[in-house]
Amino acid sequence: MITKNRGKEDKLFLDTADKDEIVKLSNFDWIKGVTTNPTLIRYVHKKRQSLIDEIEQEFDDKKLFVQVQGRSYKEMEEDFFYLLEVTSKTTGLKVPTTENGLELIQKIKNEHPERTVLATIVYSVEQGYLAGLVGCDWIAPYVNRMENQNINPYKIVQDIHQLYHVQNLSTKIMGASFKNQAQIRQTLLSGADTVTVPPIIIKSMMNNVLAEESLKVFQQHAQEEEI
Ligand code: E4P
Repeated sequence: MITKNRGKEDKLFLDTADKDEIVKLSNFDWIKGVTTNPTLIRYVHKKRQSLIDEIEQEFDDKKLFVQVQGRSYKEMEEDFFYLLEVTSKTTGLKVPTTENGLELIQKIKNEHPERTVLATIVYSVEQGYLAGLVGCDWIAPYVNRMENQNINPYKIVQDIHQLYHVQNLSTKIMGASFKNQAQIRQTLLSGADTVTVPPIIIKSMMNNVLAEESLKVFQQHAQEEEI
């Protein structure tokens, strides 16, 4: 018997705040949801709240992640309380993996365990470890930004993956910060459970230039035969 195996349940995420791209690409079942951050929201010139409303309306079986703003614990906590009120329970919260962020994650996990938490701006195995200890659902290692700092992101992802295994931590790894296809491939091969990818890279993955060339020739031949 052939069983249908579409791979890991985690699928992949879109890294964008562009609603048109989100609507277009969400037709694919293998897109599990969307990750946003203040920079991505700034690009689309929208207020965070109106964007949250728009995307939540589009999604029923997909997941949106919104980043908690602020640097001090107080600022982050205030923004978290705000997001609790204005987002649906299924919307996930991205929290920076800093001392204040880890304190907030602990509070969220203790008091609102129904909320999915993604610990973001991860540049080290140690941040990944602490995020795992505090009970994060996901962590987002920043692949391209690490490469820019001469840090090997794939070794970091590999080590976190192994550490979670030996420490029996259930936190999952969502590779983030990508600028090309090779970074995505290497991140997944290093043990990331999933990746969050800008639409432009997803499109380049789907529209391989050589495949397009081959298709053009097949199409020409098909038309010639019809004549
Ligand atoms: C997603 O969770 C991250 O915020 C995003 O991938 C960061 O990407 P950048 O490094 O291209 O800003």
